[in-house]
Amino acid sequence: ERNYRIASIPGDGIGVDVQVEARKVLDTTAGRYGFGLDWTEFDWSCERYTQTGTMMPEDGIERLSAFDSILLGAVGFPGVPDHISLWGLLIPVRRAFLQYVNLRPVKLLPGTTSALAGRSAAELEMVIVRENSEGEYSKLGGRHNEGQPGEFVLQESVFTRVGVERIIRYAFELATTRTGRVCSATKSNGIIHTMPFWDEVFAEVAADYPGVSSEQTHIDALAARMVQQPDRLDVVVGSNLFGDILSDLAAAVTGGLGMAPSGNINPEGTYPSMFEAVHGSAPDIAGKGIANPVAQILAAAMMLEQLGESEAAQAINAAVEKVLGDGAVATPDLGGKATTAQLGSAIAGALA
Ligand code: NAD
Ligand code: IPM
Ligand code: MN
Repeated sequence: ERNYRIASIPGDGIGVDVQVEARKVLDTTAGRYGFGLDWTEFDWSCERYTQTGTMMPEDGIERLSAFDSILLGAVGFPGVPDHISLWGLLIPVRRAFLQYVNLRPVKLLPGTTSALAGRSAAELEMVIVRENSEGEYSKLGGRHNEGQPGEFVLQESVFTRVGVERIIRYAFELATTRTGRVCSATKSNGIIHTMPFWDEVFAEVAADYPGVSSEQTHIDALAARMVQQPDRLDVVVGSNLFGDILSDLAAAVTGGLGMAPSGNINPEGTYPSMFEAVHGSAPDIAGKGIANPVAQILAAAMMLEQLGESEAAQAINAAVEKVLGDGAVATPDLGGKATTAQLGSAIAGALA
């Protein structure tokens, strides 16, 4: 009997709305493919912060460590500063569980429209491999001479050899299973210490993969390229911040933020991985029932894939493609009038 213990953290805003739909689809899939999902829900959120002063309990990480996987909605809401909510939940989980790969595949699906003109489904597909444990996201630094004319802040980045090498190696390994192309996002022309080091490690790892074609592009030029020639990119590897920015861009270039899933992966499987949409809690549409649940549903499929339920994962992807391809049920961001729940139910229905 295959049974998986899953921690559900709906979080804030539309995270809550899309999580309901992902669970609906997952439970339907489990029934059909003969495995069990044993859910435990955690109310860790900005609301909890407002009531108790912390995003999660002190032993939160320890409690999560008992699960096979974590499905997260989104975190962050007006009223709580973002650096508090994100450093109180999302970032500590990514780091504690050595989820050093943030895998963000995007694909232009039938029935959805690229922000770029003249692109049709199946033409655009790529994956952002984002470093997820160090880099520009750092607590090192501080504020000085506060309130004085000479006030300044310092923000340090941390790039370890181990950290840079493992993410780049992951990207090359992934490329061997895809089109065999890796592009590295750099900025070694402007950033003196970290980025030349990143490039050096990239060249070292590339030498181990003669069958993979590798190139590096400055992040500014890469942003333009992703818009002008996205079909020439496949695996794109970047630091924490560059990968963050490129993943929203890649989502827009394919079907939009409502379509892009994400896996925070601990490749060694020592700790649970965590799956979520690329997008955030979207306070502007929260509570309106119009968020697109597809990104979260595709993240749920990534979770099943990682748990070894590949057939079930592919079935979810196929159900999403079928419903969107039909075009009858679509949320406003996709040009339709359906609610979050209607789209989620249509996808669950396409499975069963
Ligand atoms: P966002 O991704 O929440 O929203 C950006 C825009 O995209 C908004 O106009 C929103 O309505 C739209 N959008 C996003 N997802 C959508 C969906 N599924 N369907 C339809 N439209 C969608 O980004 P933001 O506004 O920068 O951030 C809002 C909050 O979320 C902040 O507190 C931020 O820190 C947080 N955030 C959290 C995560 C996470 O938990 N992993 C990720 C990104 C942002
Ligand atoms: C993401 C988000 C987070 C990040 C924020 C909310 C800290 O944008 O998951 O992409 O930058 O990692
Ligand atoms: Mn982001």
